[in-house]
Amino acid sequence: MKIFITRHIPEPGLQLLREAGIAFTEHTEKRNLTLEELIEGCKGMDALLSVGGNKLNAEFLQASRHLKVIALMSAGYDNLDVDTATALGIPVGNTPGVLSNATADTAFLLMLAVSRKAFFMHKMIEKGDWGFFDPTANLGMELNGRTLGIFGMGSIGTALARKCRGAFDMPVIYHNRSRNEAAEKELGAKYVSFDELLEQSDVLSVHAALTPQTEGVFNAAAFRKMKPKAIFVNAARGAMHNENDLLEALRSHRIWGAGLDVTNPEPMDKHNLLLQMPNVAVLPHIGSATEEARGGMARMAAENIIAGLKGLPLPHPINK
Ligand code: DGY
Repeated sequence: MKIFITRHIPEPGLQLLREAGIAFTEHTEKRNLTLEELIEGCKGMDALLSVGGNKLNAEFLQASRHLKVIALMSAGYDNLDVDTATALGIPVGNTPGVLSNATADTAFLLMLAVSRKAFFMHKMIEKGDWGFFDPTANLGMELNGRTLGIFGMGSIGTALARKCRGAFDMPVIYHNRSRNEAAEKELGAKYVSFDELLEQSDVLSVHAALTPQTEGVFNAAAFRKMKPKAIFVNAARGAMHNENDLLEALRSHRIWGAGLDVTNPEPMDKHNLLLQMPNVAVLPHIGSATEEARGGMARMAAENIIAGLKGLPLPHPINK
């Protein structure tokens, strides 16, 4: 059995594959593969372990229909045409849960960094701009008791809500495809409509999956409904917010600040005006970038590959 891996992955995943006697070819160049390269890489392979946002669209899947399993090393699967994979009988799996804590930490970090303009202050010191102690300058805002709004109350949203309840006693409201009764019970989280979420959140943090329904929902109209003191955080997918509308909302003080772990497009251009704004913090999609989470993700992806190659149900399936 031989599989193609689109990037070098952490050792725990490789070790599992070796132990199962599965040979692998890793694409080790640090760049995204083109569709043609992906198709070529999968020729003669039994399975694909895909890392990053490779577009696994209908054209790729048709050309690679011989694959016995596709394992994504990510929780999100917006880059994969699940319906076509299912129709072709290719089992596909992902790595949910193991990265929830790390990703929630990233959203928490961004929220706090924005509330105190931390990234901008760092840049000011680098520029030699640390003057005298001015009691009226560099003022941030405290998070204690402010309302946390979660868009997408899955395991990452719940983990963030838990941290914010504990650290800042923040009341939690959320909007989701369906009610999350466990979060309501544990955290006193209150289900609200999308408009209520926009209108009532002091910090609005995005943790939903990217789907046709969620794409671009944070646009000018949405930002207009938010509080002027609100902080917008996105640690899910950049395509859920409109970057120009966000910039405009910040410039016109419609909202107070923004923390982004994901941008649209990625990577963000170094001249992007958002990077110059004091109340903005941007990170390069590092939500799951901890040793614990990435090691766990590699292991789960390998588990999916091993099960799929044996013709067994995947332990972490997408197409159930
Ligand atoms: C995920 O798992 O979806 C992360 O965003 C990494 O792609």
